[in-house]
Amino acid sequence: MTLPRRHILRAAGAAALILSPLPSGGRALGQAVRSDPAAPWAEAPAAAAHPDPRIRALAWAVLAPNPHNRQPWIAELPAAAPDTVVLRCDLDRRLPVTDPFDRQITIGLGAFAELFRLAAAAQGFATTVTPFPEGEPRPRLDGRPVALLRLAPGGVPDPLFAHAARRRSVKRPYDMARPVPPEALAALATQVAAPGRFGGTIAPDQVAAIRGLAWRAWQTEATTGPAHLESVDLMRMGREAVAAQPDGISIYGPGLDEAVAAGQITREAMLPGRPGYDIMVARYAPMLEATPAYVWTSTPGNSRAEALASGRDWLRLNLAATGLGLSLHPVSQALQEFPEMAEHYAEAQAMLGQGGTVQMLGRLGYGPAVPPTPRWPAATRIRPA
Ligand SMILES: Cc1cc2nc3c(=O)[nH]c(=O)nc-3n(C[C@H](O)[C@H](O)[C@H](O)COP(=O)(O)O)c2cc1C
Repeated sequence: MTLPRRHILRAAGAAALILSPLPSGGRALGQAVRSDPAAPWAEAPAAAAHPDPRIRALAWAVLAPNPHNRQPWIAELPAAAPDTVVLRCDLDRRLPVTDPFDRQITIGLGAFAELFRLAAAAQGFATTVTPFPEGEPRPRLDGRPVALLRLAPGGVPDPLFAHAARRRSVKRPYDMARPVPPEALAALATQVAAPGRFGGTIAPDQVAAIRGLAWRAWQTEATTGPAHLESVDLMRMGREAVAAQPDGISIYGPGLDEAVAAGQITREAMLPGRPGYDIMVARYAPMLEATPAYVWTSTPGNSRAEALASGRDWLRLNLAATGLGLSLHPVSQALQEFPEMAEHYAEAQAMLGQGGTVQMLGRLGYGPAVPPTPRWPAATRIRPA
């Protein structure tokens, strides 16, 4: 097959951008990338032109779901091991208030590792994932590797990967006139590593009970100063701010950019008692209401390796839901481990935990198409070692 010249040039351009790992930040990258915060979604398929299979897979891995879009990953490429990626946590990208033990951050890193594995498999490489090769850090993550990702020829492509470019966390009301079929829950259940790890319900009573818990927990987070401020501090308001820092909670697009420019959307306006806060509350309750189903995952224990495996499970659920035309949206407040959340946390574990640890909880249903969230270009997350 002969590619048109403009395709070759586009692929080569994207590959060149991804080719040069940067020591930090990524500020030196070209304006073409910086002006479109979602450009890495287009870079991932274009990276197929890159000669290093690790880079090709990493270009996809950075599109993984992760808490507050912190993108807490650092991918080290050891010169002495050209088949290996050392995955570490960028310790400055954690959520110390709402995720005090880095459990959710570890789940995001697990989703990254699984997306890396799927992308590599699509290119004929098998990935061996070795979790925490130097031990499991406690009580928080540290500089030790989270996982080693080692490539070898021979991976088996997974049909789930076909949905990677369209996967989203859909934070919108879902269509209550379209119930989720039980067969969809059964199909999703097959994606988690062990049958006991998956939970899901379309039963109205149970959906209502989970929704009530999710709403109470959300209110607790919103009214606990440091927890709410952690989110507010991560808000990037307006396209310019999002392009400068394509992570966190991005507030941009038609209508929003104008409101930011007019001074209507500000950090101060998001504080309790202020108009932005009231708008946020007024939007969240009806969105939760428009939820026909919930899914959740749990693990027998609460080890680091289990959190990492839960990221694998969640990525697979999210991809499978996308393939079924369904939307998924994590609602994690009741699973957060800061002291003010303890009552809701205990209720969530009792309601959904089956004696283990509930790792993820999400809304499921038919939602609208939403645009991709911003990402730092893969090159900014890659370090030579
Ligand atoms: C462990 C984990 C917890 C999350 N918790 C929430 C949450 O409580 N509320 C929410 O709106 N999104 C949550 N998300 C979704 C992220 O906000 C989302 O993945 C990120 O913004 C990137 O967007 P994308 O998934 O559409 O690519 C969570 C994701 C992960 C992996």
